[in-house]
Amino acid sequence: MTLIATDVDDSIEKLSSKLSAELARPTHAIDPYFYRSHLVHERELEHLIFRSWIYALHASEIPNKGDYQLLEIGEDSIIIARDDQGELHGMHNICRHRGAAVCEAPCGNRSTFVCPYHGWVYNLDGSMRAAREMHVSSEFDAQDHGLKKIRLVNYMGLVFINCDPNAVDFIGPLSNLDKPLGAYQLASAKVAHKKTYHIPANWKLVLENYLECYHCATSHRAYAKMHTLKDLEEKVEPVVNAMLARSDAVTGVDGMSTSYRKIYLEAEGFGACSYTSRYGLFDGYLTGSRDGQPVAPLMGDIQGYDGGAGDYQMGPLTFMLNYPDHCVLYRFLPRTLTTTDVEIVWYVNGDAQAGVDYDVEDLIWLWDHTTQEDEYIILRNSKGVNSRFFEPGPYHPEFEATLQDFVHWYLHTLRQSLPNQAAS
Ligand code: FES
Ligand SMILES: [Fe+2]
Repeated sequence: MTLIATDVDDSIEKLSSKLSAELARPTHAIDPYFYRSHLVHERELEHLIFRSWIYALHASEIPNKGDYQLLEIGEDSIIIARDDQGELHGMHNICRHRGAAVCEAPCGNRSTFVCPYHGWVYNLDGSMRAAREMHVSSEFDAQDHGLKKIRLVNYMGLVFINCDPNAVDFIGPLSNLDKPLGAYQLASAKVAHKKTYHIPANWKLVLENYLECYHCATSHRAYAKMHTLKDLEEKVEPVVNAMLARSDAVTGVDGMSTSYRKIYLEAEGFGACSYTSRYGLFDGYLTGSRDGQPVAPLMGDIQGYDGGAGDYQMGPLTFMLNYPDHCVLYRFLPRTLTTTDVEIVWYVNGDAQAGVDYDVEDLIWLWDHTTQEDEYIILRNSKGVNSRFFEPGPYHPEFEATLQDFVHWYLHTLRQSLPNQAAS
């Protein structure tokens, strides 16, 4: 069965009353309306997604001048390019004449971006180089017609973009992760593999699934046997505390077990979530792999396996799961009302060689397998949520706490976006 999400007879008034109802019962899952309304989807893009810091790529993926990659968010396309001076730039893939996309291939190397329609030419930093025959217009100024720029920061080689020119600083919030994340030496790390999962469900269902581990015991048997996050804290406290006690000494990294949490409504600015904590693996497991044994050389400054794994959040939609021998980045992006792209990027130490120091199949097995399991349950979830008979139930107070943080931020932001609500 193909799900067709739709909500007819939609309006700002309807959205407003739905938001009031949800905000009045914060401990329950949200109404199906929020997964089915085109009006909601448009407002999410404008007020949440295009105001948030979002991971674009690792700087090593575009190492040379003229290298670029496209990033697709919703129906929009963004170019990330390296200019002749080695600087990175983010810009909208929209010609300043009549709007054609100036770049089609998802990655490559260019000396300029040439619009295929009437031939306007742009430099690698987005500035205009030439607008064919426009000299006959006395009003035309090439300087005013560069590709629209996008905010961009490079944190340890992780490149984030933000389409809001007034976005808050992101490096400050991220600097709270410097110690534990710095240990992996991500700036010189290698992208060993990346894969995009096109999931036919609303992006919130996909993200909400990632934000809770209530389902881990029932849906992810391979993951659950090694990761303590699938249990209540009171149950796994001894395992986690023993790991935290030895973490700095075993890894050789001062501050490896630092924890910091300012996400969603508590973030240091809109969309600038920043989170780190270290949690335990069950005894006998050293890393996140098919059998819990190492799949690559130790990363960066890390000297040994402490039986722990680092959990990170950077912005509302980007996460990392870092083991001593490899790191796994997750990024969630809405494409349409009913489709979502999940990108997973696997990093290994910068000098590790495929086929010698690691096997890609072994490296990616656990999280590829787990994501396929997630896709299965998300589709089942989507099917039920799209039924007129769905009545949202209560969240689990511990397992689904972070999911609730996301939902409250989401509802609050949509509420703030309504006319006459900006000051409330
Ligand atoms: S739309 Fe690009 S040159 Fe006309
Ligand atoms: Fe899952």
